Amino acid sequence: MRTSVGIVGAGPAGLMLARLLRLAGIDCVVLECRDRAYVERRQRAGVLEQGTADALRAAGAGERLDREGLPHDGIELRFGRRRHRVDFPDLTGGRRVTVYAQTEVCKDLIALAETDGPPVLFEAEVLAVEDVDTDAPRIRFRRDGREEVLECAYVAGCDGFHGVCRAAVPAAVSRVHERSYPYAWLGVLADVPPSHDELVYARHDRGFALLSMRSPTVSRLYLQVPEGTKAEEWTDEEIWDELALRLETADDWRLERGPVTQKSVTPMRSYVHEPMRYGRLFLAGDAAHIVPPTGAKGLNLAVGDVVVLARALEHERRTGSTELLDSYSATCLRRVWQAERFSHDMTALLHRDPRAGSFDDRLQLARLDRITTGRSAAADLAEGYTGLPLG
Ligand code: FAD
Ligand code: DHB
Repeated sequence: MRTSVGIVGAGPAGLMLARLLRLAGIDCVVLECRDRAYVERRQRAGVLEQGTADALRAAGAGERLDREGLPHDGIELRFGRRRHRVDFPDLTGGRRVTVYAQTEVCKDLIALAETDGPPVLFEAEVLAVEDVDTDAPRIRFRRDGREEVLECAYVAGCDGFHGVCRAAVPAAVSRVHERSYPYAWLGVLADVPPSHDELVYARHDRGFALLSMRSPTVSRLYLQVPEGTKAEEWTDEEIWDELALRLETADDWRLERGPVTQKSVTPMRSYVHEPMRYGRLFLAGDAAHIVPPTGAKGLNLAVGDVVVLARALEHERRTGSTELLDSYSATCLRRVWQAERFSHDMTALLHRDPRAGSFDDRLQLARLDRITTGRSAAADLAEGYTGLPLG
């Protein structure tokens, strides 16, 4: 089998790249180890930056997003039982975010690929990516128990953090920058209308809590838990009790409870692999970088990377110049490091670090005080949250 661009992974990065290349008339094939139902159901991120929503619209994937997505003009910060709203359009010159789940973005992009192409091969597990430092890279994969090879001009490694593509970069070239955190997020999906119409980020002495949503009838909630916690260690009732404690306010706000339909633990990590390109291999999304989830940057970074990559591949096809492919890594990393900074700072601002002392606690409260009383600190948060323009 042969194609121009071999795409490994059908997460948001791989699917969006496939769509953009299809629109540019560049042939490609997507190889995904999981089945379609799994990819469409995997519960993950939920907030789209303005630039991500605009990119999906421009790619013809905005119809259901505009119908069912929930535009949000701000978030609420809670600490010391008080509530403070951060108004995005006011602080950013009109930018906002849209609450629309990653599962729905993937469903929309898969449906487009199904009608328009390119081929997305599910249950096709990539075993190795070879010869990326030559003009003829090869992707070895297994489908229906048989090994096959996809020959291509370029490989897009969109296979997430645990994929195989990153390993094709020689150790002598790779540089890794990372940080781990001594806590994780316990996330639940619940059949109950969200108890607030905007997302609520709460800093509490017992730890961080987040109230988010998937639709007007489905809530998504998270609790900071110790690293290594298993979801089964918490009963539904314990989760609701803890959420109610951490989200509590001095006024008459109440947390509505309902049936929990999914429960999982997300580890927290910051990670950047540099460079994002080696020879004819281009890493995009979680394959190259991870942010802790506070502030919901992961999916947005993945889309940002592939918008840059699609433009560079199109430029090469049109003009023969590899100039944009050559600058791919540097262009993406600038944005990636801004998101790393933002996600790290949001995480440090709102979580209880078990190693922290009273001095750190007071610093955290002083930072929150500045954000909720001073315009420049609030504007920095609002700009980071709504995201840099995709450019
Ligand atoms: P992925 O979505 O990971 O897609 C990679 C794809 O490659 C997968 O479909 C995988 O099956 C496939 N693949 C892997 N290996 C192979 C192989 N060898 N052969 C073929 N296919 C392969 N972000 C937020 O902003 N908020 C959140 O609440 C949030 N929660 C998260 C929870 C979890 C458990 C995880 C893992 C991530 C979460 N994220 C969250 C991050 C966000 O979901 C990711 O940043 C986003 O999915 C990145 O998209 P991607 O396409 O780069 O990678
Ligand atoms: C969601 C996840 C996040 O990491 C976040 O900061 C906001 C919302 C969510 O899954 O809804």
